This record gives sequence, structure tokens and C-alpha cells, in this order.
Amino acid sequence: MSQIKVEFVCLGNICRSPMAEAVFRHLVNARGYSDKIVIDSSGTGDWHIGRPPHEGTRRILDTNHISYEGMVARQFTEQDFENFDYIVCMDSNNLRDVHALPGSDQHSKVIRFMDLLPDEKEENVPDPYYTGNFEEVYRLVQAGCKALLDRIEQEELQ
Ligand code: 4NP
Repeated sequence: MSQIKVEFVCLGNICRSPMAEAVFRHLVNARGYSDKIVIDSSGTGDWHIGRPPHEGTRRILDTNHISYEGMVARQFTEQDFENFDYIVCMDSNNLRDVHALPGSDQHSKVIRFMDLLPDEKEENVPDPYYTGNFEEVYRLVQAGCKALLDRIEQEELQ
């Protein structure tokens, strides 16, 4: 069976999408799918290319014993439309910026993260780079990653 490839996208690729990448990988490993699902993240902006996750993201991942080893920021590229099956955008601006690139029309699974959590009132994962609230982001990221893996299990792994 070919692998399912999942990419999380935010603005800087240092706070929210690396948190989602690390949490989702942890969950995928725990459910025994590490050979079936490939996980990555990127940012629509280029300011932090090559940098590790933000200290706030690292701290909350450390607290929860979730690895982010080797992760460094990179920028989203049009090539990602071909390389990934699910492109999960952390907020509406990220979604708009991804949709603005050539190639997005052919891609059926560009998703907004909060659409995985219909019972939550927010439409966007709040950006902790500005709010400083990494705990709130962690709660949403945990819940959304579980919902995404449930969906992938139903859609692809039955
Ligand atoms: P992220 O947060 O998109 O969750 O990684 C941000 C990180 C950096 C910047 C903005 C948002 N920045 O403007 O440098």
C-alpha cells in the first residue's frame, strides 16, 4: 500500500504547524501507523527557514514527552500539492495563501484545521507567536490531530 502524506501549514512554521506535526506523529506512532503515514509541516512565510520550533512549542512538547527532534522550518512550495495527500492549514489566512498558489485547484484535500473540530467556536488556531498562549494551541492541536487520524483511518486505512 502506498503511504498517506500529511502536511500541516502555518505562517512561520515555528509555532503551530510544527506542534501539529510532532503531536500527529506521536499519535500515528502510538496507533501503529508509522510505516503508513508520512508527516511534515511548512510555513507560507520565509522568515524562519532552517530554525527549530519556537521555545514555547518546544517547552509544551517537552512537558508532554513528544519529540520534535530534527525538525526545522521550511517554506510551503507548489511542489507540496504533488507531494502531499492532506494539506492542513492552521488558520484561514494560511488556507487563503495556499489556495492562491497554482496547483491548489487540482488538490482535493486542502483542509482548515479547525474544520476538524466542528464543536469548537474558533475558526482559526490562534497564533501563539502573538498571544503567547501555547497551552490553548496544544489543546486544540491534540483534539484536531485525533480527529484527523480518525478521519484518515476511516477514509484510507480500512
Ligand atoms: P506560526 O507563528 O505561524 O504558528 O509559526 C508565527 C511565527 C512567526 C511569525 C508569525 C507567526 N512571524 O511573523 O515571524
